[in-house]
Amino acid sequence: MTTTPQTPVDMRLTAIRFAAQDTNLYEFRLPDGAALPPVEPGAHIDIHLPNGMMRQYSLVTADGDPTAYVVGIKRDRTSRGGSIFIHDNLRVGQMLKIGGPRNNFPLKEDAAHTVLIAGGIGVTPIWCMAQRLQKLGRPYELHYACRDRSEAAFMEEMQRLTQAKLHFDAEAGSFLDLRPIVANAPAGSHFYCCGPLPMLEGYEAATKALPPEQVHVEYFTAREEAATEGGYVVELRRSGQEFAIPEGRTILQVLREGGVDVPYSCEEGVCGACETAVVSGQPDHRDNILTESERKASKTMMICCSGSKSPRLVLDL
Ligand code: FES
Repeated sequence: MTTTPQTPVDMRLTAIRFAAQDTNLYEFRLPDGAALPPVEPGAHIDIHLPNGMMRQYSLVTADGDPTAYVVGIKRDRTSRGGSIFIHDNLRVGQMLKIGGPRNNFPLKEDAAHTVLIAGGIGVTPIWCMAQRLQKLGRPYELHYACRDRSEAAFMEEMQRLTQAKLHFDAEAGSFLDLRPIVANAPAGSHFYCCGPLPMLEGYEAATKALPPEQVHVEYFTAREEAATEGGYVVELRRSGQEFAIPEGRTILQVLREGGVDVPYSCEEGVCGACETAVVSGQPDHRDNILTESERKASKTMMICCSGSKSPRLVLDL
């Protein structure tokens, strides 16, 4: 379940710092330098870019300067272009609209033991969690895998922690094997993973026998195709409007074209901005946010990517 989104606000990009090869830290502050709403480990912000794109990036720290949000962004040549635009065009001093923070990846701070697993730039929320657990004095271990040492962020700080185990594919000659990490963790451990798709698939396979409430994961790209089969009606309970959803369109697209103002951001089921309460009907969930039990309960749905299995879906809008 996501936390309540905040309205986007104007913030100034106040610093860009090198973190690793192709990865920079971007720091944002309010123009008057005022304190920001407190953030939790695992939370992300939406960056509204001047080219019309909107992208989500995890916060690097929840316990640092309360007047700044800091995110780590890797220039990813295989991405949809947001990180390339940021690296090539953003300059210190620029004003940008920043939404959030929102948290789809909350940390259970009082777990008996916590196992944190990160791959590549997926380290940002995981490092944020490690710093919080370190501050609280809670037992945890951190496993961080990168292709190459030069690509590893926060290395200096991590090397000072006995809890941190670093893995470099190029040196080991193989990817990090998550099975022994999961098998050797104390009973009752909570697991968190953020990284590239092959790592997340390996993580889900390694943890599949564990109770789902102990297994936490954050995806940054869609795993499933959006539901665009259409052929159902969406009724908005509060306004009384009805919309037929045709084949090839999502609920979000049809509502926006019909003049309904609904929040959204990623449009691929990974950020939680479009989460909408369901009054009745059977959603066809395609997002990466709701847990299995939340999907079954269907109290909410992500209308950017999920559709309907029932001929009529009533939303609390
Ligand atoms: Fe991001 Fe729907 S807009 S989950």
